[in-house]
Amino acid sequence: MSYSRILGTGSYLPAQVLTNVQLAERVDTSDEWIVARTGIHARHIVDAQDKTSDLALRAAEAAISSAGIDKHEIDLIIVATTTPDMLFPSMACILQEKLGLPSIPAFDVQAVCAGFIYALATANSYVKSGLAKKVLVVGAETMSRLLDWNDRRTCVLFGDGAGAVIIGASDQPGILHAKLAADGRYQSLLNTPAHIADGQIQGHPYLYMDGPAVFKFAVKALSDIAVKTLNEAGVDKSQVDWLVPHQANLRIIEATAKHLGLPMEKVVVTLGQQGNTSAASIPLALDHAVRDGRIQRGQTLLLEGIGGGFVWGAVLLTF
Ligand code: UT7
Repeated sequence: MSYSRILGTGSYLPAQVLTNVQLAERVDTSDEWIVARTGIHARHIVDAQDKTSDLALRAAEAAISSAGIDKHEIDLIIVATTTPDMLFPSMACILQEKLGLPSIPAFDVQAVCAGFIYALATANSYVKSGLAKKVLVVGAETMSRLLDWNDRRTCVLFGDGAGAVIIGASDQPGILHAKLAADGRYQSLLNTPAHIADGQIQGHPYLYMDGPAVFKFAVKALSDIAVKTLNEAGVDKSQVDWLVPHQANLRIIEATAKHLGLPMEKVVVTLGQQGNTSAASIPLALDHAVRDGRIQRGQTLLLEGIGGGFVWGAVLLTF
């Protein structure tokens, strides 16, 4: 078996929806501004009693069911998140306990909005090297807990949710190529610098973003890595059936698609009703388009994302 392949997908969105109109009652913004500048109309917000791991669990269960496997076949759990339940143990350990899968290895990946791409690339390496046979890969976030709800520059952008896939060894083509990148010189543009010391939270505990600077970098980085990934895999852009991008801003998605020469009909866009769910956005979009029948087995997908760091990457695969 020389490939690793997506065997199933799943996702979960909290029931509570916060619309732009509702937000405009709380902070100095408007539905018109948010839609025009981002493409976002609404986002899902986690209930007070739910933790990120609860969202992750529901997405994981849906992915296991969609893959048609027994959960005990899973031999590795990787969770991408920026909003874990606690500093440690890892979300992957907490999810492992909630799934009732003691003793299999489990770890988190921290690459913010590129987290799912990093986790998928890591799972691919484990499967292709024979170190794992079936990997549960989850992107789960409660970004609403990281937001300053008085800061209109950031609180209108994000939402909560979780998405998951099962990756398994296969003799059918699956993940064709994965390409990751990072540049820590840009930390100051997008961050949450808080940490704990002496029993206190030290530093700014809310998400900060220099939106225009991130926008500019994101368009170029995502366009470049998409082209490089296709070139290195020897796949022409005309062969891409679906672009499944990180859902941060419709204008970024449109610019990336244009650079690739892809019409928007070939791009999965979910941010209108979900906002930016960071590491969860790509698996949420993937699951959405699989379940509504747009994404079919055998099609070529290009997944890509970028997050604070900066970190970015792309995965090209046959679904
Ligand atoms: O997921 C990780 C990657 N993240 C991204 O890729 C996000 C990248 N950045 C963006 O998506 C966009 O930069 C934003 C959506 C964050 C902002 O859009 P923008 O077109 O770059 O707006 P801006 O920050 O340049 O602000 C333009 C104006 C400013 O007013 P002045 O200074 O021109 O008077 C802002 O104060 O819009 C104002 N503004 C708002 N007005 C109403 C900023 N936020 C809001 C708001 N409502 N929510």
